[in-house]
Amino acid sequence: MDLNHFYKKNYGDRLALLKAQLGLNEADLEVIANGRTEKGNQIIENYLTDFPVPEGVAVNFLINGKEKIVPMVTEEPSVIAAASHGAKMTLAGGGIQARTTDHLMMGQVLMANVEDADELSTQLNQNEAAILKVANDAHPSIVKRGGGAKKLRIRKLAHQFVSLDIFIDTKEAMGANMINTMLEAVATYLHIKLHQTSLMAVLSNLSDECLATATCQIPVASLATKKLSGEDVADRIVIASLAAQVDPYRAATHNKGIMNGVDAVVMATGNDWRSMESGAHAYAVKDGQYRGLSDWKVSDGKLIGTLTLPMPVGFVGGSININSSAQLAHKFLQITSVKELETVIVSVGLAQNLAALNALVSEGIQRGHMHLQAKSLLLSVGATDTELPNAQLQLEKCPVMDANTAKQVLKTLRNKGEINE
Ligand code: MEV
Repeated sequence: MDLNHFYKKNYGDRLALLKAQLGLNEADLEVIANGRTEKGNQIIENYLTDFPVPEGVAVNFLINGKEKIVPMVTEEPSVIAAASHGAKMTLAGGGIQARTTDHLMMGQVLMANVEDADELSTQLNQNEAAILKVANDAHPSIVKRGGGAKKLRIRKLAHQFVSLDIFIDTKEAMGANMINTMLEAVATYLHIKLHQTSLMAVLSNLSDECLATATCQIPVASLATKKLSGEDVADRIVIASLAAQVDPYRAATHNKGIMNGVDAVVMATGNDWRSMESGAHAYAVKDGQYRGLSDWKVSDGKLIGTLTLPMPVGFVGGSININSSAQLAHKFLQITSVKELETVIVSVGLAQNLAALNALVSEGIQRGHMHLQAKSLLLSVGATDTELPNAQLQLEKCPVMDANTAKQVLKTLRNKGEINE
């Protein structure tokens, strides 16, 4: 396949080349054309089209006393329903309280094969003020806005590595570019001034001095179901969260559930979900064992949930400024700052986790999942909105739920003329 200098070709030539090489047909080209936007080309290289991922809103969120309608971008059917349900469960206890630390991101200048780590640490400490100044001079505009490099930390690591960690207040931005610019300037300075070479200079996604914490306190009585008392449900949620503390296999899934909600908001607001993911999972192993990120306990008749997450996100910067969907997300959320955004993200993670644990320890998650799965299958085989309710009911009764059965159900209903108006 000859795709040499693909990135240099204009859009039409790129498309023609792919068409010729891959034998794309008219329908394929229509998919590409339908998704194409002007902005895509400004954001990534080799741009073809936008990939559609559904966006919806979760409701019932009361965060720090304010109602929030939360935009979420996700391809997983049950995520928004679960977030809304989890949020509703917190209402009996006054919703969710959330707080943030300073927006201090961290970047590292990593030095390898350091023969005398103590000596290097001393030198770095002695040059602290100069290093901070070099970093800040590399990005003066953030300093004008009250941010910039604030402090250093030196870590002597195994295998003769030394990491010079620089904590940078990136204000409203996630600040990846700003941080990397500052770090590279510091690396050059260390080379010239201390004759110390560095292996790399780059931000760390484990931003553990940029955290957000959400808590909720739900009266256990409000958790009662037809089959279980509120106390039973609360106790089972506590034990489920304990399982994620002791078993990394369970913790991975527990945290995946949290990230279902977190990533959906991170994406809706135009942020970097890989950064969020890596930060969260690294934070989950902070004491050496991978654990569930949330904690649930019962005290004074209340189920108390807490979730803390690193927050490498921004309210401005990156592609957020040119992403009209991200701007719209800010309107939905009625927020004007990154800290408010952080409180929403961590709250959604907590609500999502609550909904998952509640379902898992009571009726299981499959009933809700299969309902939505039935809907997806029926839509994929051409069911209309009017046909859906009846068809969903029928499909859910079938022993096997797949596209063939969905087609069969639809055919039978259409033959019988049974559609729900
Ligand atoms: C599914 O996407 C997420 C869950 O598996 C989370 C969990 O098990 O806690 C339901």
